[in-house]
Amino acid sequence: MNAAEQAASKQNAGYLAAGMVEDGMVVGLGTGSTVFFAMERLGERIATDGLSIAGVPTSYQAAIRARQYGIPLTSLDEHPELDIAIDGADQVDPALRLIKGRGAALLREKCVCDAAKKVLIVVDPTKMVDTLDAPVPVEVLPFASAGVFRRLTLLGAVPVVREGVKKDGPVVTDNGNFILDCDFKAIADPGRLEAEIASIPGALECGLFCTYGEKITVIVGEGKGCRVVS
Ligand code: 5RP
Repeated sequence: MNAAEQAASKQNAGYLAAGMVEDGMVVGLGTGSTVFFAMERLGERIATDGLSIAGVPTSYQAAIRARQYGIPLTSLDEHPELDIAIDGADQVDPALRLIKGRGAALLREKCVCDAAKKVLIVVDPTKMVDTLDAPVPVEVLPFASAGVFRRLTLLGAVPVVREGVKKDGPVVTDNGNFILDCDFKAIADPGRLEAEIASIPGALECGLFCTYGEKITVIVGEGKGCRVVS
């Protein structure tokens, strides 16, 4: 799949997800290039069809995009339960378990996923895998980062501190934390690994999303149209 085909697939997935949002809904807005297509289409529906929604953004980047597209914003404080959330993913397995977090927004994304009654995951076909094997991002408290690094190594990971494109220091998340990208190779038991990482003090959240399969619908954008998996 070349870059243009991948972009078209992402657009198809994002637009289909945006079409599933109904008037009056409060919508979790994920972070990433695929969900930004959904936000673009939601903006069009607001402008042309009079769709009335409010969005809860998962990052400053998502909030900026939402404002650009004319999506009114609210917060989890105002709406601790969301009607629906739309988000992307880096990998999806057949049990609808996810690895997320390439955009460093995984902590707020998991809060929003947890708060939503229904979650639409929008991806291109390259994200669908038989076994999760991408590096798992872990958001860590800077104070505890050396200890968390050590504990992740004991779990079998090769952690790498995520740096920005200029490689001049760690990426700092919207929450003021660092990201450790942890290569576990093929993950035999993703749910167990998620629980083990969650038990490390200072590991604030990880990019494994293994407990939300029942409310997740995956929309896989394809060349012409989409495949919907739930
Ligand atoms: C951000 C994420 C993204 O949803 C994920 O990285 C997918 O991004 P894209 O749609 O650009 O491929 O988890 O933290």
